[in-house]
Amino acid sequence: MKEWYDAIKQAQSVDKLEEIRISVFGKKGVLADEFARMKSAPDDQKALIAKELNTHKNVLTNEFTARKITLQTLELQAHMKAEAIDVSMYSTKSQAGALHPVMETMDKIVEYFSSMNFAVKTGNMVEDDFNNFEALNLPKYHPARDMQDTFYFKDEMLLRTHTSPVQIRTMMTTKPPIRMIAPGAVFRRDYDITHTPMFHQVEGLLVDKEGQVSFANLKFILEDFLKYMFGDVKVRFRPSFFPFTEPSAEVDISCVFCAGEGCRVCSKTGWLEVLGCGIVDPNVFEAVKYRNVSGYAFGLGVERFAMLIHHIGDLRSLFEGDIKLLEQFQ
Ligand code: PHE
Repeated sequence: MKEWYDAIKQAQSVDKLEEIRISVFGKKGVLADEFARMKSAPDDQKALIAKELNTHKNVLTNEFTARKITLQTLELQAHMKAEAIDVSMYSTKSQAGALHPVMETMDKIVEYFSSMNFAVKTGNMVEDDFNNFEALNLPKYHPARDMQDTFYFKDEMLLRTHTSPVQIRTMMTTKPPIRMIAPGAVFRRDYDITHTPMFHQVEGLLVDKEGQVSFANLKFILEDFLKYMFGDVKVRFRPSFFPFTEPSAEVDISCVFCAGEGCRVCSKTGWLEVLGCGIVDPNVFEAVKYRNVSGYAFGLGVERFAMLIHHIGDLRSLFEGDIKLLEQFQ
């Protein structure tokens, strides 16, 4: 019997202990054997042998139970140690986030103009009629207001329809000269594959002494900027109209999809419109009480730039939060 006491004490795992249990207490185990052998012992010794065997059986059972608890505890501890999670540990598997293509494009635009010494200004998304329209030479009831479908609040407040009011706010609070850009969200009542109710613009304004700022200056910086953004593209200026600039122009680049050959995206023209600009209208300077100055201004849609850079077909997809789409721009 002694060997079984030792075996129980020395068992190193719950599995091993289970094997021992079967060998000792099982139907064909040593105890069963001993009890069977007892039957053939002389009658006067049977009671004694039975007593002895029962004692062994009880003590072995106790030893077995005690060892089992010890081994189970040890195994549980080892298991917990192996599965422990160190939440502070650096994981190489973690996914890196990435900038949204619109923000990445915005950053690149801001980077260009910052390098050209333009200060970055922000205004208010909730604007008043004066800053968003009146001061920009868009009088009440003027049909030019139809160019921008506006979300109105009461008391002549509205969601800004463009970043141009930041020009006004800056000129109202700062003396010339001015060299600024205004990146930010703007809002219009529009929704189709090239329009969303919220999108982003970057406005630019440069003001200096009268006669110091020419259309040539404007043309130079915009051409340089567009080549920085799109690489080797052709740039052309087309006469246009904005109430706050005179003369005004829209700026096209040669189509980035077909290199000017003519395709579906550029409606077979070979050109894509990317910017509005012009020489600041004297009525705007009048509204902010600037005298003897000249300036240029421009405005662009950031989503349009992002779509052209990344070849995205539907503007709305930028705002659907679709991870599969966004992951492509990491
Ligand atoms: N504010 C104009 C728009 O939203 C863009 C623009 C800005 C045009 C400045 C000319 C000068 O369409």
